[in-house]
Amino acid sequence: MNQEEFKAGNIKSKICGLEKLATFEPVTCRFASYLENNETSLSDLSRWIALDPVLTCRILKLANSPCYGFSGQITTVNLAVVIIGLKALRELVWSISVMDQFTDQQKLIDQSEVVNLWFHSNYSAIAARYLAELAGYPAAGEAYVAGLLHDIGNQVLAQQFPEIYSRVMEQSLMKNLPFRVAEKQLLSFGHDEVGAWLGEAWGFPRMITETIRNHHAPEEREGDSLLVKIVYLADLLAHSLREKNNPVAEHWMEISETEIMSRMKKFIPCNGHDLDYYQDHILGEGEKLNEVLQDTTLMFINA
Ligand SMILES: [Fe+2]
Ligand SMILES: [Fe+2]
Repeated sequence: MNQEEFKAGNIKSKICGLEKLATFEPVTCRFASYLENNETSLSDLSRWIALDPVLTCRILKLANSPCYGFSGQITTVNLAVVIIGLKALRELVWSISVMDQFTDQQKLIDQSEVVNLWFHSNYSAIAARYLAELAGYPAAGEAYVAGLLHDIGNQVLAQQFPEIYSRVMEQSLMKNLPFRVAEKQLLSFGHDEVGAWLGEAWGFPRMITETIRNHHAPEEREGDSLLVKIVYLADLLAHSLREKNNPVAEHWMEISETEIMSRMKKFIPCNGHDLDYYQDHILGEGEKLNEVLQDTTLMFINA
C-alpha cells in the first residue's frame, strides 16, 4: 500500500469531498418499495431508514443542508423525514443507483464483515435508545441515531479505503487485538476520527459529530456529554452480544462483563439487574434485524 494513503490529512481531504456512501442494499430495496406504496406513512418510512446507518446519514445530510433552514439542528430520523418530505425522499432513493453500490474494489472487504458492521450499528442504536430512556435522557431518538452512526467511520474506511480497512482487520485478527487498537498501531487516526470528519463534512449537528468522535473511552476525558457516555455503554453492550453469539470473536471484547456492569451503574439505575437482563432486552428488540439478513444472504448469492 502507498504510504501516502496512511496520512490523516489525505484521508480527511478525500472525506471532505465525499458526496455519498453505498447504502445497505436490502434495506434500500425494501425502503424503495415502501416509498411507492401510497398507504405508507412517514413513520413507517422512518423506521426503514433507521435500519441503515448510511441511509440515515444521507437523510441527515439533506435535512441539515442550508436549503431547509435547519442547518446543524436535525438529530432524529423522524424529524428529518418530516422536513424533507416524500418528494425529496423519492428523489434521494431514485438517485441511489447501481453506481452507489459496492464497487469491485470495495468487495475486497469480506462481505460477512459488512453484515457484522450493520448488525453492530443497529444493536448499538437499540441499546443507546434503551439506555437513554433508563438514564432519563430527554431525546431517545437522538440517542438512537448517535448509536447507529457511532462507527460510521468504519463504513467510510471499508468503502473508500478498502486496502486500509483490510490491513487493519488483518492486524486485528492476526494479533488478536480490538479493531481500534490495531488501527492505532497502523494509522495516526482512528475510525472515530474518520466518522467525525464525515459528520463535519455533511453538516451533522455538533452533538452527533462529537459523539462519533468520542465514543471510545470517555473515562479518559472530562466533560463529555451524557450522550457520549450512553453511546459508549451501548457500544460495549452491543459488543457483548456479539461475544455471546460468537465466542470465536473474543478479541473484540476490551473489558469484562463485570466491568461493563460497573460502568453502567455510574449512569443508569440498574436496580439489581445483571448484564443478561439488558442483553435480553436488546436482543428482543433486535429480532426484526434477522428478517433483513435473509435478503442480505440473497444479495451475496447473486453477487
Ligand atoms: Fe468504534
Ligand atoms: Fe462500535
